[in-house]
Amino acid sequence: MTLIRVVKQVQRKSLQCPLLCRFSSDSSALRKGPECKWLCGSSQEIVSAVRGQVEVRQNFISEEEENVLFKEVEPGLRKKRYEFDHWDDAIHGYRETERLQWGVMGESILRRVRVVAFPEGSQLLGPVHVLDLDKEGYIKPHIDSVKFCGSTIAGLSLLSDSIMRLVPENNSTDWVDLLLSRRSLYILRDDARFKFTHEILKDEDSFFSGQKVPRHRRISVICRNLPV
Ligand code: OGA
Ligand code: MN
Repeated sequence: MTLIRVVKQVQRKSLQCPLLCRFSSDSSALRKGPECKWLCGSSQEIVSAVRGQVEVRQNFISEEEENVLFKEVEPGLRKKRYEFDHWDDAIHGYRETERLQWGVMGESILRRVRVVAFPEGSQLLGPVHVLDLDKEGYIKPHIDSVKFCGSTIAGLSLLSDSIMRLVPENNSTDWVDLLLSRRSLYILRDDARFKFTHEILKDEDSFFSGQKVPRHRRISVICRNLPV
């Protein structure tokens, strides 16, 4: 599974101003869009640049569905230990697994994800990736391998809210933050997936638009398509 992240891990000093979110897309200077609750960034331009290529669907799954998925993935995860000390890893404090076969309800949730997230007829990476981040865990800036994954990445967030930060690969002063609420689905497409790094902030840096967003243990269930 590390193959998915190994190609482009970008080392960068952390951005200095987690409290500052100057251009939340709900600021009155900007057109109000349905995304104002979950998208903000360092400038109006950068928010516009990703519009249409990032999406967060809040409450995509119910509490019951979250529970179903959790019960399916927990036994596989429990067998593994959280990894903390691989300094060259893109992720700190995690364990992960893949799952090909799901129960009836799990499968129907994943079918809904595929329908909304992927272009019709796209070939999906067979196994679904399950990533369990410890409360102290976080994901460093990286770009998923272009060799193994296609244009679209879609992930369900279980157990905790978190912040996903996107930074243009060629300009590390701009940023866009996505509030990934518990039970939401996020989708990254095209340039947002290829030309921006993405990361999941550690608890101490986890703010959205100046508001603390506590990061607890978080499990993500991630679907990807194959390159064409
Ligand atoms: C990854 C990744 C994001 C998430 O595993 O490459 O970016 O939602 N995961 O866990
Ligand atoms: Mn990734």
